[in-house]
Amino acid sequence: MRLLVTGGAGFIGSNFVHHVVRHTDYDVTVLDKLTYAGNLASLSGLLEQRVTFALGDIADAARVDDLVASADAIVHYAAESHNDNSLHDPYPFLKTNLIGTFTLLEAARKHGTRFHHVSTDEVYGDLHLDDPFRFTENTPYNPSSPYSSTKAGSDLLVRAWARSFGVAATISNCSNNYGAFQHVEKFIPRQITNVLRGVRPKLYGSGHHVRDWIHADDHSSAVLAILQRGRIGETYLIGANGEKDNRSVVELILRLMGRPTDDYDHVPDRAGHDLRYAIDSTKLRDELGWRPLYENFEQGLTATIQWYRENADWWAPTKDATEAFYAQLGQ
Ligand code: NAD
Ligand code: TYD
Repeated sequence: MRLLVTGGAGFIGSNFVHHVVRHTDYDVTVLDKLTYAGNLASLSGLLEQRVTFALGDIADAARVDDLVASADAIVHYAAESHNDNSLHDPYPFLKTNLIGTFTLLEAARKHGTRFHHVSTDEVYGDLHLDDPFRFTENTPYNPSSPYSSTKAGSDLLVRAWARSFGVAATISNCSNNYGAFQHVEKFIPRQITNVLRGVRPKLYGSGHHVRDWIHADDHSSAVLAILQRGRIGETYLIGANGEKDNRSVVELILRLMGRPTDDYDHVPDRAGHDLRYAIDSTKLRDELGWRPLYENFEQGLTATIQWYRENADWWAPTKDATEAFYAQLGQ
């Protein structure tokens, strides 16, 4: 099996490449543009093995065509992925998430290549704190931000290319990931690296917003299961019953790092901030027998904190620019 993994130098894509090398004998080609979010160091040790790196843009049809022609399956992670950036400058989100996905789908159609599309639960919009139900595969799309709306659009393109052109596609929509190699712009690594630098964590608004946390390695095992055994044309939601409000997460990070639990700042809230995400992953569990391994969030977070402590070389070069961006937003 020869996989083409787009966005494989990013957080979740690189985790998936590590997972594939550990658990299969597949050959992998990573196609990545190395934007501010891509880092070849996240693949270190793998490029000498069964992993080849191809620098390029998924919206570049000529670049994509050759690579798709020599792959048995595409696993599509590449995206502009951060909500705050999408509120500041939406255009790269339209280009990569919509035109990039379209370009890959056209190549998959031409070459008859299996296509797995990696998406987010944010396409469903948000839930009330007391809603008794969670997102399922039948929840109507209702995205809030330029990020989630372009991911929703990319999902709809995949569905259309599957139905109208017979592309052998599956889609997964996953909840918020945490773990090693996540860019310091995102909530959990931003707070961990702030504490490591002696800076107070920054909580948006009151912090009562809820995210459904899953370890990136559990996301990877789910994507591999769908790639291997998922039914063509189907969507699967991926989640690990990890709902936590943001304030509790900040307080837990502070406690695990030996700081007083009130040692953080409230900063202005994000525009259009989704209140709550929550995933019902029954279909994935019942049909494919998938189960998460990291069910204890405190243990997973402790290991993640340890990873950022030990890998300042990986994250420090991006920290100042990230905080300069947030400072412009008044944080
Ligand atoms: P990331 O921002 O860490 O990585 C994105 C990667 O894509 C980077 O390596 C970047 O260089 C690359 N890339 C961006 N534009 C490109 C282009 N035009 N051509 C080629 N490569 C390009 O993102 P992530 O958090 O790893 O997310 C990966 C995927 O998973 C995304 O599709 C995202 O929507 C989805 N997802 C993320 C989460 C989460 O919690 N982070 C949850 C569910 C789904
Ligand atoms: P984020 O990691 O940006 O993921 P998403 O927007 O995809 O959920 O943010 C997770 C949650 O944390 C979200 O509710 C916004 C909040 N947040 C903060 O409170 N402080 C921060 O510094 C950041 C980056 C996010």
